Amino acid sequence: MSQRTLVLLKPDAVRRGLVGEIIGRIEKKAGWTIAAMELRTLDRALLEQHYAEHVGRDFYEPLVAFMASGPVVSLVVEGERVIEGVRALAGPTDPIAAPSGSIRGDFGTITRENLIHASDSEESAEREIKIFFPGIS
Ligand code: CMP
Repeated sequence: MSQRTLVLLKPDAVRRGLVGEIIGRIEKKAGWTIAAMELRTLDRALLEQHYAEHVGRDFYEPLVAFMASGPVVSLVVEGERVIEGVRALAGPTDPIAAPSGSIRGDFGTITRENLIHASDSEESAEREIKIFFPGIS
């Protein structure tokens, strides 16, 4: 089942020089390919769209501020069961609870600064890809 997912390497990953390490793990999965990739600092309007489901949560404002604090690498990754697969590579949201071997488990300590975002369903992937890469079909 070939799918597409939106992946964000968050400002902490870019600041800490972990872009190559994280993309390397994704690229090494057999048959997965990068369909689009961009480095840019995100503005509040785009982040409000992306995180619409979290409006009103106590972590929302600090999350938006963090996500706008430096450049982010956004990617569309394509391949077999890639939605579930990138989330498995990432590990759970809380990096301290994430297992060793996962990206968050290996490199993270703080829930907000958890290095990577990956779409959680086909519906989210479609919505998020449209926000970040409106030009691709
Ligand atoms: P992600 O799952 O990519 O998208 C929502 C983000 O909100 C999540 O990663 C974390 O960066 C952040 N987040 C979720 N829960 C919390 C929390 N309890 N405290 C701080 N940040 C959080």
